Amino acid sequence: MNFTCLIVETRDKVGLITLNRPKQLNALSDVLMDELAEALTAFDRDAGIGAVVLTGSDKAFAAGADIAGMKDLGWMDAYQGNLISRNWDRVREFRKPLIAAVAGFALGGGCELAMMCDMIFAADNAQFGQPEVKLGILPGAGGTQRLPRAVGKAKAMDMCLTARMMDAQEAERAGLVSRVIPRERLLDEALSAARTMAGFSLPVVMMIKESIQRAFEVPLAEGLLFERRSFHAAFGLADKQEGMAAFLEKRPPNFRNA
Ligand code: CAA
Repeated sequence: MNFTCLIVETRDKVGLITLNRPKQLNALSDVLMDELAEALTAFDRDAGIGAVVLTGSDKAFAAGADIAGMKDLGWMDAYQGNLISRNWDRVREFRKPLIAAVAGFALGGGCELAMMCDMIFAADNAQFGQPEVKLGILPGAGGTQRLPRAVGKAKAMDMCLTARMMDAQEAERAGLVSRVIPRERLLDEALSAARTMAGFSLPVVMMIKESIQRAFEVPLAEGLLFERRSFHAAFGLADKQEGMAAFLEKRPPNFRNA
């Protein structure tokens, strides 16, 4: 596929997707989100890919959904066109580890897109926010649900209702991001973490992701049962034999994703 709003590359077992609408600060148009869904689907299907990094520019990860593209839409357009759901949900459905490497602005849908990823690495100039209230709308790609789960009710209410931005340091303290990194090292560190994950057993990595996702969807007892059954299932993998044998024989494991 030819992408107009993305740069899609592979680095060994790692997929790298760069949002590429610099003039619009990577505003997330429908075309961009269609392309992102397409790229992620291809990486999910590619058995040679073990993890993916999603990034933007130094100035903006993404400044939100595309305001120009939404300006003339009415309720029926949004409802019938399934605005947001149709393509954005594909990010949520991606089954391999997905790191958002965020520099600059991650606002509105940009913040929501980062939160759909499994972890956020923030450059020291990153700014997170949900300023939709200033446009006469509300966060519509999960902000009112994922932000309170990440940073708690008080900060989520503050950000969504006053539109104030949160810098990288505050975002790390609040639990929104897992690492803050000097801007010039952001991509290297994200790629390195992705390479690490891609070096483990793919089915095990996928089961860990799926199990942690359950923690946000189901009651504790159900989540624990899901985890236990997945744990038992891992005992059926050759990679479990290999991982444990390698540890005891004091050598690196050679996982075969089986
Ligand atoms: N959609 C479309 N275009 C956008 C955009 C967006 N979300 N954000 C920025 N742009 C465009 C600007 O219109 C401008 O275009 P022109 O050069 O043609 O005028 C260009 O990008 C550069 O932007 P600025 O001149 O505004 O740059 P700045 O450095 O002065 O400010 C900013 C940067 C603070 C991020 C500011 O651009 C801004 O506030 N952007 C909008 C942020 C926003 O409201 N996001 C929420 C969108 S709605 C949403 O996301 C809904 C949802 O939940 C899914």
